Amino acid sequence: MSAGEEGIFVRLEEPEDVARVFEINVAAFGRRDEAELTDRLRAEVSPLIAHVATRGSESGPVIGCSMWSPVEIRGEIRGEEHSPQGYTSSAFALGPIAVWPEEQKKGIGGLLMRAGFDACREAGELLLFLLGHPTYYPRFGFRPAWEHGLWYGGMRGPNPAFMYKELAEGALADRKGEVVYSLPFRDV
Ligand SMILES: CC(C)(COP(=O)(O)OP(=O)(O)OC[C@H]1O[C@@H](n2cnc3c(N)ncnc32)[C@H](O)[C@@H]1OP(=O)(O)O)[C@@H](O)C(=O)NCCC(=O)NCCS
Repeated sequence: MSAGEEGIFVRLEEPEDVARVFEINVAAFGRRDEAELTDRLRAEVSPLIAHVATRGSESGPVIGCSMWSPVEIRGEIRGEEHSPQGYTSSAFALGPIAVWPEEQKKGIGGLLMRAGFDACREAGELLLFLLGHPTYYPRFGFRPAWEHGLWYGGMRGPNPAFMYKELAEGALADRKGEVVYSLPFRDV
């Protein structure tokens, strides 16, 4: 799909990558929760954008992986509470993203992020969310979501780790409210 510097490629995940993606998530996070999340997202959530980073060629060793999947924004628009039927709209959220420990800090996470942006845009989704390190993701244009009246998991109030990005200016518009992740995320 895309070739980065030093022979790193990013392509869509294939069924034969699944075991390796599990292994990379366990190694990167030091626990099984995110790895198990990848299995559940594949089984339960659609659409799912799953990428792997490989070395040397697209069929080379897999050294990183990422997933994007839908979230729902439930809530207020133009300051009004939603009706009992609910005002809802959709966006995509990142998670998990992981790079094999010995391969970190070489720009591979950045390549995965940019491939994800392209794929989300192609899928017609211009508003993205993630929960992550407040010092890493601003370099990709992510900003704190709470400043725009968006929160997740009942955690209303300042939360620098929950961030949004517009792939096109105005994608957020005046959407405010709770961002609801799919069930597999809520069980992690
Ligand atoms: C986060 C991760 C995917 C980034 O991948 P990567 O290939 O190392 O990223 P890049 O090489 O593109 O960027 C490296 C930068 O990320 C920063 N970074 C990595 N982990 C970080 C962390 N936990 N907190 C803050 N910054 C972090 C590095 O300090 C480095 O910054 P610099 O460029 O200013 O030196 C990878 O470090 C990883 O797998 N971490 C463990 C799993 C994880 O935490 N995933 C994200 C959950 S939100």
